[in-house]
Amino acid sequence: MTLNELQQTCQNCSKCDLYQTRTNVVFGAGNPDADIMFIGEGPGENEDIQALPFVGRSGRLLTGYLGAVGLDRKDVYITNIVKCRPPANRDPKPEEQETCIEYLKSQVRIINPKIIVCLGRIASARLIDKDFRVTKSHGEFIERKGYLMMGTYHPAALLRNSNLKFDALNDFKNIIQEIAKITKTEF
Ligand code: URA
Repeated sequence: MTLNELQQTCQNCSKCDLYQTRTNVVFGAGNPDADIMFIGEGPGENEDIQALPFVGRSGRLLTGYLGAVGLDRKDVYITNIVKCRPPANRDPKPEEQETCIEYLKSQVRIINPKIIVCLGRIASARLIDKDFRVTKSHGEFIERKGYLMMGTYHPAALLRNSNLKFDALNDFKNIIQEIAKITKTEF
């Protein structure tokens, strides 16, 4: 299955209740051959309207962090654990995550990134370790099912607490260093 075919299937999904309140499915965006994939928790209001991930305030901050380490949004692939907006931006429920994760797993198989970066607790807990604590383990690379993964702060957390921004930027710098090691390219 191609990424486009998967997107078509996802577009028509009604497997969990989130389809009833969504405006759009937010499948993901970016380079389908990306070395780096970023995974957030779920679309917010702006994302739901525009059908694109991370396009609100958090998204602008994410774009800034990418730019600070020499990356453009078009270089990476960005998506979420759940593809439809949870009402009032609540956390996606475990059963919603469970239902939607098959789409994400297929996306990861097709894109086959070298590094997966989980943005925030929800994505890190679902993909790295159920007890993941971002303050303790952010920036650590760990292999899971053949993929090199890292959890870092969700941009929304950085908007709430700017004291975290220094550590977050270091995590982004480490992503670049790690990818340079893997691909043996100079950034
Ligand atoms: N927060 C997320 O986790 N994902 C988005 O796409 C936007 C905000």
